Order: sequence, then structure tokens, then C-alpha cells
Amino acid sequence: MRAKVLVLVLGVVALCAPGAAQAAPPPDIEQRIGALVAQMTLAEKLGQLQQLDGLADGTARPEHARLVRRGRLGSTLNVRGAAATNALQRVAVEQSRLKIPHLFAFDVVHGYRTIFPVPLGEAASWDPPGAEDAARIAAREATAAGVRWTFAPMADIARDPRWGRVVEGAGEDPYLGSAFAAARTRGFQGEDPSAADRMLATAKHWAGYGAAEAGRDYNDVDLSERELREVYLPPFKAARDAGAGSFMTAFNTLNGVPATGNPYLLRSILRDEWGFDGVVVSDYTAVLELIKHGMAADEVDAARIALMAGTDVEMVSRTFNEHGQALLRAGAITVARIDEALGNVLRAKYRAGLFARPYVDPARERRELLRPAHRRAARRAAARSMVLLRNEDGALPLRRTLGRVAVVGPLARARKSLMGTWWGDGRPQDVTSVLEGVRRAVSSGTEVTSADGCTVPCHNTRGFGAAVAAARAADATVVVVGESYDLSGEAASRSSLDLPGRQLDLVKAIARTGKPYVVVLMNGRPLTVEWLARNAPGLLEAWFGGTEGGPAVADVLFGRVNPGGKLPITFPRSVGQIPIHYDARPTGRPFDKANKYTSKYLDSPNTPLYRFGHGLSYTTFALSNLRLGATTIAPTGSVTASVTVRNTGRRTGDEVVQLYVRDRVASVSQPLRRLRDFRRVTLRPGQSRRLTFSLEPEDLAIFDADVKPVVEPGRFVITAATDSRGGLRAGLTVAAG
Ligand code: GLC
Repeated sequence: MRAKVLVLVLGVVALCAPGAAQAAPPPDIEQRIGALVAQMTLAEKLGQLQQLDGLADGTARPEHARLVRRGRLGSTLNVRGAAATNALQRVAVEQSRLKIPHLFAFDVVHGYRTIFPVPLGEAASWDPPGAEDAARIAAREATAAGVRWTFAPMADIARDPRWGRVVEGAGEDPYLGSAFAAARTRGFQGEDPSAADRMLATAKHWAGYGAAEAGRDYNDVDLSERELREVYLPPFKAARDAGAGSFMTAFNTLNGVPATGNPYLLRSILRDEWGFDGVVVSDYTAVLELIKHGMAADEVDAARIALMAGTDVEMVSRTFNEHGQALLRAGAITVARIDEALGNVLRAKYRAGLFARPYVDPARERRELLRPAHRRAARRAAARSMVLLRNEDGALPLRRTLGRVAVVGPLARARKSLMGTWWGDGRPQDVTSVLEGVRRAVSSGTEVTSADGCTVPCHNTRGFGAAVAAARAADATVVVVGESYDLSGEAASRSSLDLPGRQLDLVKAIARTGKPYVVVLMNGRPLTVEWLARNAPGLLEAWFGGTEGGPAVADVLFGRVNPGGKLPITFPRSVGQIPIHYDARPTGRPFDKANKYTSKYLDSPNTPLYRFGHGLSYTTFALSNLRLGATTIAPTGSVTASVTVRNTGRRTGDEVVQLYVRDRVASVSQPLRRLRDFRRVTLRPGQSRRLTFSLEPEDLAIFDADVKPVVEPGRFVITAATDSRGGLRAGLTVAAG
């Protein structure tokens, strides 16, 4: 999956990725940038560092044209659509003094007009190529609408599901998160982001945002260097190595220093260590927020701190523009730093192809948005993201020829919620609900009834009667519960992970009818659904599935698609277990039920409700014959691990074979297992496939006591499994160097 260069330094193996998957700009771009910078006034330079937001409907504000004409505005977010972007672009390219094209940014996180599953759901597919294709389609649609810079992928690792933005990332694991961050970056940018149907990607939020204390959004983040390097940075490094054209600073502090004014993040790691030469944009008013952080005395101070720390573009707040000249006169900022930031902006505009092709063709926009092929891809992606959590006595799949199916619950008819938290330019009227999807999926002789039962969050049971009556009269009932889109995402932390309101009571009322029922979860985070885990005959995690989420749920419920997703994040039994993640260290007193004095709770098991990597199928699989290419290797060596996976059931289905590594004895205590590779395979009944993985030195490396990557001699355990618990094990020895 990856090729990295191993550099042996003083007997310590220092791992470093090759500088660039980032396409270094052709040499003449740097000359052109230099020539432009030489012509620019200070006001024009500061103008390029300014980004303002358009109106929610995608139109520019009247002020924007005035500023662009005077060279005082370099980019906007939210302005979109061929008409709106061409109009403002004409001002930049035909009416401004230097004719520098304008850069249009937008949050195209999981789709532009055709909305794909939320990223956490997409990660549950364990299918990075699928995510790359979804991002490619999003870029095709977004660039047709004049967008050339997306604020995605969100590369934040999250291990606290109280944090609403867990929905936007790829879950708890750095390896899985890295695979998806790289895939999404490649999908948005392709080999060349200047192509007409590609756009600049942004790795966000730099950095550590997912570790917000108490899971409360925007809250303080305190991470050891080890935790930062082992857990939170890898997906950003993967996005950078995949060529991400920009980074976005996070709202949070990191170890007391706000990310937007943090030279360690913005200069030492990103520029000096990783050699990033793209553009860094602040998050929304994050520069101004340095005052509230108590780091800046006033706006002038905020501008100085952010700019000199390494933030290039100020999103929405205007301190650079308003105070840059005074700061320069006072010697508090330098021309060199302004020109460096300006160079990063102009390079991004060249990389986005803006100088070559500033306008978009409105006819292409009409052709691209919601193309049938995009809808088909979104439906397939949504089905592949779903995780079958429980299926007792073959409750699922349902028969298409049932006499009557009831579809109940507050999310059964949901459209906007299916689009999740970053719905881009998606429109509810283009979305097919679960109810509608079921209606289309069943046979012509099947009657489909529905009843909401309650709202989300639901606080009264007035609608329960109709839902219970529908269930009583049906041959099977589908109960669709979970979170509405606004209970997930930014500024949507929850102190409880229970089903909001009285939804669980609704499910229990349906269960009391004694008639067959299954539950579909529509949510953006792990939920503490222990009663459902024990009682629901069928339990399907459907996340927010996007424009085609309804038909995709029906595809899985009626067996047109056999679910193959796996959880990318642990589902806790209770909030009290948080943080809980599979790659925990063993401690010196691992739980032992025979010994009181071991690591445990008095009132709960240590084990989660559902593990990282968990997911069932309508068929069964077995692993066998794990073999390593060698049992002993040198610290700079690599080794293959081969295992056979077989479909032992009666239906074609997908399995995700996961490869974990444990360094048994190391200079720093290591997790019981760490994901180091995976593969999703489709097998027919009885079919076997032998998979071979390659473990490279960086897969065996740990961060030593100095938080430097090394491969230490000693004994390793390699595990091939279908979730983060069991599996086949093999021993590997790394010989002394
Ligand atoms: C928001 C988010 C960020 C987004 C930006 C622009 O506050 O934190 O992810 O890209 O503002 O919408």
C-alpha cells in the first residue's frame, strides 16, 4: 500500500516519507509568482491573504466585487455556482489592476450536489478506493460549479464520541484514518489539481482538534508529544504525502497554544519537518479568536501572532488587512513573511489552474450535477458503508414479497438528515428517504405503511399508538431511529450518547407487539444502545447515507446488497467508559476477574458494546493458515504475512481482513494491537482467497522514549482478524541490528 524510504541513521532507524507526492510546481510558476509579487502594493498583498464568506445561497456579497476590483480580496468561501463565480471572477480577471484570479472555496466534505455517506460512514466501508472515487465525483460536480478549493478531508482522529465532529473523520485509528485522508486527497486533487474537474484539498483541522477535553467542541487540547505523533498526526502526514494543497488551522489550543498561532505546528512540523509548501488557511474567525483564547491582547496582536506563526490566509475576520500596514511599519511583522504567505496563496492559485482557466462553463454545471452515474455511486457507497451490528435467527434480510411492511420511526421519512452535517450544495428534494427506498424495493404485491411514532429528539409518546398499530398489522416492521443531522457535526457535542428523547421507548413499544421488527440506526456517532444490542432481532448501522441513503438501506434490508462494513470507531456501553479505543496499552494490572486489584470498573465491564472492526454479514467467513514469509528479520527488513479467507456461508459477501501488530516488549509500553493493513474482499459461497500483506519497517516501528520512530529488536505478534478482538496469530522476531 505504501512505499517509504528507510534512512538508517546512527543505528537508529529514522523513517521519513519521501518529500513529495505533492506535484512540485513547474519552475516557471515560482518565477511568475516572483514577478507578480514584485508588482504588488502592500494593500494588494494583504488583500490576497483575506478570505470572506459568501451568502448561504452561494451568492457573493456586494462588498466582494468592490474589494476584488481593488485587489483587496483573494478568496471567498461558500460562493458557488457557475453564474456567481464567473461574475466575481470577471471582476478579478478583467477589472482589477493585476488581474489575479479569485479562488473559490467551499466545504465539499462528502459530496457537492450528490451527497455521499458522511465520512465516518464512508470509513466503515474500509474501502479507500471507494472514498477516492466519491471525492473524485464531488470534485467533478464542485468544479463544474466554480469551486476550486475544498475544505476537506477532515483528518482528525476522534476517540470521544461525545464530540459531534467525529462524524466528519475516519474514526479512532491512525492507520485507517491515514488511508482515508490520503484517498480523499487523491480523489479531490487527482494527479494534477489544475485539471478542470479537480480541486485543491485541505487537510483539517491542524491539529489535535478531535482530542477536545470532555468531548466538548472547541475545548482545550492537551496531548503528549507521543500521543500527538502516534495518534493525531499520521492522517495529516498521509494527506500531505498525498499532495494536499492546503492545511486549515484548528480552533483549539494544543498544549496551551492556539493552533492558529502555534509555530510548533505551523512552522516546525508542517514546514520544516514535513516540507509542506502549500497554503495554510485559518478556520472561521480563528485569528480573531486568539483574543478570546487570551493569547492576543487585541486585533492588532492577533494579526501579528497568527501571521508570524505561519497562518497565511485569514478566514472571515479581517485583522491582517486592517492592521497589516501598521504592524509592518512598527516592525512587528516582516515583508518577508507577508511575501511568503502571498507566495503560498499565488502558488495555490496556479496549482488550482486558475491562471490558465479562471472561468467555468455553465453548460458543464448543468450536465454534471446529480448525474445518474453519481447517484449510482452514492447508493453503492452508502450500502458499502453500512454495518450489520446484530442479526439474530436470520431476522435480516427481509423478504421482498412480504404482505405488509411497516416503516416507522422519526427518521423513516427523513431527507435532510440523510445528508448529514456537511450537505454541501445538496438539496433535500433530491434525497430519497428510507420509507421511499423501501417502497421501491418491495414487490408490487407488498403493502408499505408508515408512522413516525415521534420526532427527534422526541419527548412525548402521542405518536406511539399509530406506530404500534402499524407494527401490529404488519408482517415485519423497520424502525428507523437515531440522530437528526443537527445533533451531529460542529458545535453538536452531546453529554449522553443514548438515542435522543423517547426513541428507545418507541422501539420497546414495537417490540412488545411480538411481531417481527428490525432497527435501522441513522446517526453520526457511536450510540450507547445496549438495549438494542441485546434485544433487536436485526440492528443495522446506516449512518447518514446521503442522497441515495434510503434506497441503500432498502438494498441491505432486502438483501440486494450483503452488508460488509466494519466499525471504524468503538461503540461504548456508556459514556462513563470514554475514552475507549481498541489500541489500548495493557497496563501493569490488566483486568483479571479473579483479582480485585486489576484495571476495571465496579459497575461495568471494560469491554465496549461493539468493537472497532466489528461488522456481520448475511454469510459467514473463516480465516486459516496465517504464514509469515520469515520468522526472523533485521530491523530494516520487511516480511510478508499471508492468510486465507473463505466464504463458509451460502451467499456472496464481503469480508474485511485486518492485520494487527504488537511489539511484545519495547522501550515504551505498546498497545495490545495496532492496525497495520487491511483488505476488503468479495467472495462467493465456498470461495477462498489467499491474501498477502507486506509489513514494512514503519509498520513495526514504535516511537521510543524520545518519541523518535525506531524498529526495536524483539518479539512481535502478527494477528490476522476480522475485527479487533480475535484472529490468527504468528510470532515474528526482529533480530538485533
Ligand atoms: C467551520 C469548520 C471548518 C470549515 C470552516 C468553513 O467552522 O470548523 O471545518 O471548513 O468553518 O466553513
